[in-house]
Amino acid sequence: MNKSKKVLLIITGGIAAYKSLEIIRGLKANNIDVTCILTKSGSEFVTPLSIESLSENKVYTDLFNLTDEHEMGHIQLSRQADIILVAPATANIMSKIAYGNTDDLASTVLVATNKPIIVAPAMNVRMWLNNATQRNIQTLRNDGIKFVGPENGEMACGEYGEGRMSEPSEIIKYTNDFINSLDFKPLRDFSALVTSGPTKEMIDPVRFISNESSGKQGYTIAEKLSSLGAYTTLISGPTKLPNPNVDKVVHVSSADEMMLECDKALPVNIAICAAAVADYKVMKQSETKIKKNGSRLDITLEENPDILSRLSKRNDKRPDLVVGFAAETEKLEENSKIKLEKKGCDWILGNNVSNGQVIGKDTNEIHFISKSETENWKQMRKEEVAEKLSHKIVQHLKS
Ligand code: CTP
Repeated sequence: MNKSKKVLLIITGGIAAYKSLEIIRGLKANNIDVTCILTKSGSEFVTPLSIESLSENKVYTDLFNLTDEHEMGHIQLSRQADIILVAPATANIMSKIAYGNTDDLASTVLVATNKPIIVAPAMNVRMWLNNATQRNIQTLRNDGIKFVGPENGEMACGEYGEGRMSEPSEIIKYTNDFINSLDFKPLRDFSALVTSGPTKEMIDPVRFISNESSGKQGYTIAEKLSSLGAYTTLISGPTKLPNPNVDKVVHVSSADEMMLECDKALPVNIAICAAAVADYKVMKQSETKIKKNGSRLDITLEENPDILSRLSKRNDKRPDLVVGFAAETEKLEENSKIKLEKKGCDWILGNNVSNGQVIGKDTNEIHFISKSETENWKQMRKEEVAEKLSHKIVQHLKS
């Protein structure tokens, strides 16, 4: 299937470089042709000979090598692959990409390419958490560069934390899936809006009402829809997540702001309301910090707009498909069906949120409910939920 697919693998100088050999082997096992660029510091960890033997292709190391330029100029090298994978990606190469530096072959190719770039970061936890590195990561993400990893774990230097390169199997799978997805764009002619994360309703300048929604489910759905070709707008309440690879991300705080941005994003074909919108807001927000005075404090709350309900019941610009979630602690199926009816959406994904399940976690167990069918999806990672839902959407819109 992947016979003609090509990856340009850039190996930079990190202790994880030895794992690149396994990545080459794994990609080739998936019938992907691998050509490598080895940076000067990368060559301190692995030899060009071992890479060449495994990849069965010439290894490129030098920007000013006349033979290489004659055989394949750096521009051609940057274009001949379907994607570029940087593994391991050091803090240095990420900084170079962020700033558009071109002082060696690897960085020049990364600037010259018109192909998608995936990076698999590998560095010490302090380097990963460093403010400059984090700024660069954000720049890269905003520029549409995909990330696989890093993971939390034991480091070669003996420290523990985030920054460890993902396992080769993970990188191989991500790259393989990504390459396959390049050709699969069934939602190319569609647009989507996804709400995600919690909302934050201020009481006074320092206090607020919110919840522990991580935003993860909505982010993964938005990313999946976008990867299937839909022009996707993510409208997100405050989360700790980096921007996903979608067409547009709008950050909001309160439910009112989220509602406003949803209206602005219309018309769309698909609306997914995954946000854990605070049901209530404070009627009279205090402009100054509320002081305690030894007696009871009464705060009057009023209902927030129900975004899902409003999108579903619009007379004009109603999305073709409106999907909501139902967070329930009891009678999951029954309550989800009532919500579907009451809110007027087309599908509802019920999830059991009792005992701290789901909210802020990596997995979800879904009861899929539409007007005509009910399905129980076994417990799965939120990425898999996004995948399953997206494929259902494709089937629905195409039928
Ligand atoms: N929702 C919304 N706007 C709100 C409240 C909820 O868009 N103001 C959406 C959520 O994004 C979700 C669905 O409605 O898709 C159901 O949310 P949930 O919290 O389960 O239900 P509520 O409507 O808040 O009802 P209740 O808290 O009474 O169960």
